[in-house]
This record gives sequence, C-alpha cells and structure tokens, in this order.
Amino acid sequence: MRLAICRDGAHKINTATNKLNCHDKKFHDWYRFVLSFPPHLVRQYIDRFGLHAQQKILDPFCGTGTTLVESKIQGIDSVGIEANPMAHFASTVKVNWCVASDGLISHARRIADYAEKIIETERFGNLRTLSVEADSLLLKNSISPLPLHKSLILLESIRLHKDERYYNHELLAFAKVLVFSISNLHFGPEVGVRHLKKSDASATEDWMEEILSMADDLRAAPTQRADAEVHHADSRHLSAVLQPNSIDAVFTSPPYPNEKDYTRTTRLESVLLGFINNKNDLRNLKQGLLRSNTRNVYKGDADDDWVANHQEIQSIADAIEKRRIELNKTSGFEKLYGRVTKLYFGGMARHLAELRSFLKPGAFLGYVVGEQASYLQVMIKTGEILADIAQSLGYKVVGIDLFRTRFATATKKQMREEVVVLQWLG
Ligand SMILES: C[S@@+](CC[C@H](N)C(=O)[O-])C[C@H]1O[C@@H](n2cnc3c(N)ncnc32)[C@H](O)[C@@H]1O
Repeated sequence: MRLAICRDGAHKINTATNKLNCHDKKFHDWYRFVLSFPPHLVRQYIDRFGLHAQQKILDPFCGTGTTLVESKIQGIDSVGIEANPMAHFASTVKVNWCVASDGLISHARRIADYAEKIIETERFGNLRTLSVEADSLLLKNSISPLPLHKSLILLESIRLHKDERYYNHELLAFAKVLVFSISNLHFGPEVGVRHLKKSDASATEDWMEEILSMADDLRAAPTQRADAEVHHADSRHLSAVLQPNSIDAVFTSPPYPNEKDYTRTTRLESVLLGFINNKNDLRNLKQGLLRSNTRNVYKGDADDDWVANHQEIQSIADAIEKRRIELNKTSGFEKLYGRVTKLYFGGMARHLAELRSFLKPGAFLGYVVGEQASYLQVMIKTGEILADIAQSLGYKVVGIDLFRTRFATATKKQMREEVVVLQWLG
C-alpha cells in the first residue's frame, strides 16, 4: 500500500489530467460525461488498493461507467449504481462486450440504408418534430430542425429493425452522435447551446462511423471477462441491490455541491430515447438523486438532518445565507444555496452510513470530489468535510490526495479536485 496525504503534492494541471488518452478510448469513449475522471485514475487506485481478480469494486455513483469499464479491462469484477436512467443505460451497454462485431456492422448497415431511403423520400415533405411536451423538456435550440428530423428517422429505423443482440449498442451509438455530432450542444463543463447552430447533419453516416468504432473495440475485447453489474438505484438505499459484506473496494466520484444538473447534461438523449417523457418523469428522476444543486431540492427533503450537528457545514450554510442577504440575491434558487449545501453533505452521510454493512473489513474507498465556490463564492472544502463525516461514521481516513486543479474564473483561484481515501476496518 502506498497511501499518504499529499496535500502539498506536485501541481497537476487540469487539461492534461482531464483528457481521455488515445489508448484509453476503447469502450470508455462509447458515451461519456465530459470531465468524468479518466480511466488512468481508476487504474492507479486499483493498483494502490492492491485489487486482484475475484475481488469486487463498487462505484455507487457510476455515471457513464468509467470505474466499471476500467475494472473490466483490468479483470476485476465490479458493480455500479446509478440513479439517472440515461447514464445507467450507458454504463450497462459499455460493459456488455458479448456482441458479435460483424453481426453488429451488417445489422447497422441495413438500418442506415433504410434510414437514408426514408430521408430521401421525405426530402420535400414536412420535417418530423417532437411532441410539444417532449420539446418543452429540452434546452432551447438543443438541436436544429433538419438534424432533428434526420435523427428521428434514424431512431425510428433502429426501433423498426430491433434485434435484441444489437439494439442497445445501436441506441447508445445513437445517443453519442446525437449529442456530440448532430446537436447544437457544447459542454464547458456545464451544458450550453452553441452560437453557431448546425443547420444540417449527416446523422446516419456519423452513427455508422460510431458503430464501426464500437465493433473494433468489441473485436479486441479480452477473452477472460470480469463481471460487471449495473443497478438503476439510489446510493442512499443499497439493501435492494447489494449483498452484505460483499464489496472489497469503492472507487467513485459523487456529484459535487455546485449547480451542475446531470439531468440537463443528459436531457436531449434522455428525451429522444424515452427515459424522460414528461415533467413527472423528470421530477421522479431528480428525487432519486443526491441533492447537489438547487434545481433538485424538494419540500420534505430531510437529508440535512444527518449533518445537523456538524459545525463546519452549518457555518458554511450560514455564511452563504449571510452573503446572499448582503448581495440582495432574492431568487427562489439563490434562497436555496445554503440549504442545498446541508442537503448535499447530509445525503453523502446517509450514503456512507448505509454502505458500511456491504463492505468487507479492510475495504479501501476512494471518493473523487472537488472544492467548490459556486454559492456566492463561499469556499466549500468538499474533500475535507467528506473525510470528517466519514470519520464520524467509523471509517478510517487514510489520506486526501490531490488529483488535479481547476481554475475557477469567479474566484480567480485554483480549486483542488481530490481523492478522499478511506478504509472500513469493520
Ligand atoms: C460525477 S458523476 C459520475 C461520473 C462517473 N465517474 C463517470 O464515469 O461517468 C456523478 C453521478 O452520480 C449520479 N447520482 C446522483 N445522485 C445519485 C444517487 N443518489 N444514487 C446513485 N447515483 C447518483 C449522477 O446521476 C451522476 O451520473
């Protein structure tokens, strides 16, 4: 084991540590959150935790599955939990390598040909559109009319030719090209709409290219396969999805206490694939998430009870509220900045408390979190506070490692992104 606190360690700058290395694209690049932690970080901690085949690693906030995919490549069993259905779907597909690559290509070619024919036939007809309800869920101008029309035809063709062996891979490839090639969205890191909108897109060609790239990865998949299961669940309630005393290690990155809304980041593909059909679906989804932004705070939320006696969290929430009053910020969301900070750490406390009975004694845990100052520039040292909460719940704090820094324009400061390393001694 080589674990130590390295708070003054060498400065690692954001850009180099964010990028997906060329040799790390296999499987990982099928669909990925911009700024997810990179696969090499997972490798580094698999190594530091001394994990080997027959052991099981858990990612309780698995997102698009970086921990699961990398563990599978390294031959280690994994289990992921994710509350957002789109991210859950992506992770599930990314760890399914039991697909015949040649079959996938020839099936997809039939779909692409069919879609092209329809696009040609409907060239002078009305453009296809989403229902008013579905459209109201999207960020305005997420996608231009003609690219949307072609995407809807492609999606219909995928559905018409449904073959269980390839269907999910075809849909994930669709989600990826929809967001990254066809739409007007950009990520910086929060999702936004480009100034220069795309008036046309080669939807089927881009999709086919993505299928070919997937097929290459599948062809090169290792023959010795580790297991990976992915559950659509809430990491504050684990008993329905995990066996007691079954987890050897945890490596994860939960949301951070800032205004990032993962349901917005994934909105376009979630709506087109039918994971969110109306406002009710969206509310249900948000209610299953850790409260980490003011857009998902609800009446009756009570996770803050878990940190009611935590002095530092209460002081941060008070400082945010004081600042808000001084600055005369009066919107409904601004009024929730203090409360969401308490709900966030309370939710993490609930998760860490719940997790204990599923860990094997001696299990190591790595939580990747970032310092934040999104709420009126009041500094939140997420890693230190999380370590403190974990300690109060009986975990040993092994160290807080610097992973990378990020320049925050609002505060003009380098903000630390850290790995909080814990151990459960049983
Ligand atoms: C920082 S992202 C994880 C990114 C991930 N490392 C990856 O490779 O994509 C955090 C994830 O936690 C999920 N999440 C939020 N609240 C959750 C909860 N209560 N249970 C499970 N997942 C949750 C979010 O939907 C989001 O996908």
